[in-house]
Amino acid sequence: MCGITARVGPGEAVPELLSGLENLEYRGYDSAGIATRNGRGIDLVKREGEIDELRGAIEKRPPQGSVGVGHTRWSTHGPPSDANAHPHADCTGQVAVVHNGIIDNHERLRAELDSHEFTSETDTEVVPHLIEEYLSDGDSPGEAFRRAIDRLSGSYAIAAVFDSTDTVFGSRNGSPLVLGRASDRYYLASDVPAFLEYTDEVVYLEDGDVVALSPDGYTITDAGGKQVDREIETVDWEPADVGKGGYDHYMLKEIHEQPAALRQTIRGRTDLLAGRAELEEFPPESFSDVDVVHLVAMGTSYHAALYAQSLFASRGVAAQTFLSGEYATNPPSVDEETLVVAVSQSGETADTLAAIRSIHGTGARTLAVTNVVGSTLTRECEDTIYIRAGPEIGVAATKSFSSQVATLSLLCERVSQDTDGATPTATSELFESLAALPDHVQQVLDESDAETVASTYRNSDSYFFIGRGVGHAVALEGALKFKEITYDHAEGFSAAELKHGPLALVTESTPVFAISVDPEDTKTLHNVKEVRARGAPVVAVAPEGSTNLAAYADHLLELPKTHPDVAGILANVQLQLVSYHAADQLSRPIDKPRNLAKSVTVE
Ligand code: F6R
Repeated sequence: MCGITARVGPGEAVPELLSGLENLEYRGYDSAGIATRNGRGIDLVKREGEIDELRGAIEKRPPQGSVGVGHTRWSTHGPPSDANAHPHADCTGQVAVVHNGIIDNHERLRAELDSHEFTSETDTEVVPHLIEEYLSDGDSPGEAFRRAIDRLSGSYAIAAVFDSTDTVFGSRNGSPLVLGRASDRYYLASDVPAFLEYTDEVVYLEDGDVVALSPDGYTITDAGGKQVDREIETVDWEPADVGKGGYDHYMLKEIHEQPAALRQTIRGRTDLLAGRAELEEFPPESFSDVDVVHLVAMGTSYHAALYAQSLFASRGVAAQTFLSGEYATNPPSVDEETLVVAVSQSGETADTLAAIRSIHGTGARTLAVTNVVGSTLTRECEDTIYIRAGPEIGVAATKSFSSQVATLSLLCERVSQDTDGATPTATSELFESLAALPDHVQQVLDESDAETVASTYRNSDSYFFIGRGVGHAVALEGALKFKEITYDHAEGFSAAELKHGPLALVTESTPVFAISVDPEDTKTLHNVKEVRARGAPVVAVAPEGSTNLAAYADHLLELPKTHPDVAGILANVQLQLVSYHAADQLSRPIDKPRNLAKSVTVE
């Protein structure tokens, strides 16, 4: 939800700000803007639309200067328009501000600032006008910025450029802000890809921090105004990881990156001889006190969590999955024996952070399962396991689902062994399947018939996805992906639920994708016969050897033979390809679906 960036150093700021915004566009893409300090004042250009619109405007009138801020927007207050695009300036043009988040007390502040001329409907615009007030009191830019920040409540990552200084100021509270340090220049951004081309040295700022970046260095002060040192970390992502690498879309690139991502996820985390998961921070017995597991997540991560719930259940570990957005408002009871696992690709999803915050102080143990090093979730939870999928830029989550499920299945092994000791034979079969998973995913990518399936059913009214157990989680995820990028109606159900209502909607123009992870699965076969009897075309997504299911299906998207706990990941890859090709045939903007943004940092 909105990406911000800032840059100080030698040379012109605009090219680096623009490339930073392009790498943050997954966070929002309804308008964008840049402001620089040109030595005489502030140059500010902003436009409704994607960054190409901004680029066009900049070519006509390039902002000058080596210091600046940039923004790409996902609207919360006020529709997409040139006026509502960031940066926002004060009445005198002394300061320009970019913001990600929501300022809860903006109405009260706006009323207080009634002598100022507001030009947008945004919550953000109160910030430059507050700064203007404090500058007129005689404050320095740094003092005025700090005083303004201290007046805000809500969530924010903010950066401000002033006409009077080559220092850029930034602050965060509840929204991500990372500092990048290169040899002769500094950056601020909502996420590392914004400046990865220029540096891999980062400082993850903490809530309440105010940072002052000048060409000579930076200082950080904490919420109390005390100067602090924050650790400089090196990220192990390559600049090429954030490009499209020759693919038409990030989504397709990320689908094809799954074999490599899964190798990274699993690497060093299984001990085949001992038949156990080796999660670096969690030696055996780490979870022996766990009585119940709660999984909290949203969207695709929620589906990965539901998948894991089935795995926990099949090992006799009590586990329940919650939409994080419900967890905080309807809290279930938890105690010291509850392990709360927060699953989030970005580690910045506001609902999931709220769920974790809601149980602080209860004694429940919290564990983040995330992709993004240093994300807020890793700081809110006691422990973290990284899924190591590499940067995911496409708004539709793909490789993160596979890596989340693989990570959660290892966690599930660890917890079940610690709590009641799984049999080594069952475990080693699973580990062998996990070890083969990257190659099996590659096989699916090489041999999939998904493009033909997508084109066969491209004129259908509606698409249904059914499955049981892990197949239910995959059905929900398949439908989410399909609706998200094709804009066609798609629903996922438990195959068990079909006869209890949804069957009423099944006609000859509702293709049904039936997901099965077991060639002997007779229940899904019965459900397939039921929908066939109503004239619906059936696409079976099932392992080699599912002859019965194949006999009743119009198409088979086949999965290599593997452990059923892992087969769902392969089925999901088939469905990712179906969604991708369906959306591509409809010429949808696959990486930037309407109304969505990758990182949902507001509740
Ligand atoms: C769907 C999608 C979203 C996210 C959801 C949670 O393709 O990307 O549904 O899965 O917003 O995001 P994270 O995993 O970052 O918490």
